[in-house]
Amino acid sequence: MKALVIGASGQVGTELMRLLARTNGADALGTYSKHPAAGLRQLDITSPSSVASLFKEYEPDTVFLCAAMAHVDLCQEQPELARKVNAHGPANVAAACACKGTRLVFVSTDYVFDGSKGMYAEGDTPAPLNEYGRSKLEAENRIGGLCRNLVIARTAMVYSYNPSSSNFAMQLMNNSSKGTKMRVADDIYASPTYAPDLAVMLLKLAESGKTGLYHAAGGARVSRLEFAKTFCKTMGLDDNFIDPVPGAVFKPKAPRPPDSSLSVDKIKRDTGHFPLDYEKGLKLFKQSALEAGI
Ligand SMILES: NC(=O)c1ccc[n+]([C@@H]2O[C@H](COP(=O)([O-])OP(=O)(O)OC[C@H]3O[C@@H](n4cnc5c(N)ncnc54)[C@H](OP(=O)(O)O)[C@@H]3O)[C@@H](O)[C@H]2O)c1
Repeated sequence: MKALVIGASGQVGTELMRLLARTNGADALGTYSKHPAAGLRQLDITSPSSVASLFKEYEPDTVFLCAAMAHVDLCQEQPELARKVNAHGPANVAAACACKGTRLVFVSTDYVFDGSKGMYAEGDTPAPLNEYGRSKLEAENRIGGLCRNLVIARTAMVYSYNPSSSNFAMQLMNNSSKGTKMRVADDIYASPTYAPDLAVMLLKLAESGKTGLYHAAGGARVSRLEFAKTFCKTMGLDDNFIDPVPGAVFKPKAPRPPDSSLSVDKIKRDTGHFPLDYEKGLKLFKQSALEAGI
C-alpha cells in the first residue's frame, strides 16, 4: 500500500501513521496544515491545485482523509469556513482520487445524526443539528458523487493518550491532576472510540476492498458521566473533581445530539474486527500513559 494520510498531525492521523509504520508492505506520507511535525508535508485541502500537485508527485494508491475543522463550536461560529474545509476540501481530494481510481477512506462523524434515537445504523437517515455535522454530511454526499473507490467511516468521541490533543479523556486527566472541577453531562450518550483501534478499523476497511458507508466507532454506548467515572476507576484516580450535570446546562454555541451512539454490526460483519468498548480502550489508554512516564 502506498498511503497518503491527510491530517496526519491530528489525533486520528497520528495513530494511523504509527500503525502504517509497523505494517509490512505499507509506505505512508502524512500531511499537516498549520501544525508542522517531523516528516510531514504541508497540504491545505481547500486548494485544489495543491492537492493535485501532491497527488501527481506522490501517486498514492490509498488516501486516508482524516483532515477536518473538527472544533464543533468554531464551526458554528464560522459556518462558511467549516464548509470550505469540511465539504469543499474533501471534494478536492475526491476529485484527485477519481482521476486514477485511487482508493479513498474518508473519516466522518456521528454528528450527522440528531441523536433522538441512538444506536444508529448505516441505513438511518442523517439529520445534523449543527454546522459541523452539516458540513461533514455535505462532504459525504459530494464525495459519493465524485469517487467510486470510496469508504466513508463515521466515528465518534475519539480518545487516546496524546498530550497535544484535548480529547475528553485528556481533559479528564488534566483536570484531575490540577484538581479543577469539571462538569460532565449525565444524559449525553455516544460510542467513545479509542484512536489506535480506529486506526486499525480504517486500515482494515482500506484493505477490505469494500465500498460504501461504515460506522467505525467504539463497541459500546455510554454516557459521558459513566465514561468519566470509568476513566477515573481505571486510572486509579479520585472522581470527586467530576460534577454531574444535565447536558442542557452547557448551552454550547452548537447544539449537540443527545444520543449519537452508533451500531458497529456492519464493520464487524464485513471486516471481522470487533471494535473495542470504552472499558478495554481505557485500559490501553492507561498503559500508553504509563509508557509515557505519567
Ligand atoms: N475527535 C473526535 O472526537 C471525532 C469524532 C467524530 C469524527 N471525527 C472526525 O475524525 C477526523 C479526525 O479527527 P481528529 O480528532 O484527528 O481531528 P484533529 O485532531 O483536530 O485533527 C485535524 C487534522 O486536520 C488537519 N487540517 C485542518 N484543516 C486542514 C486543511 N484545510 N487542509 C488540510 N488539513 C487540515 C489538521 O492539520 P493541522 O493541525 O496541522 O492544522 C489536523 O491534522 C475528522 O474528520 C473528524 O471530523 C473526530
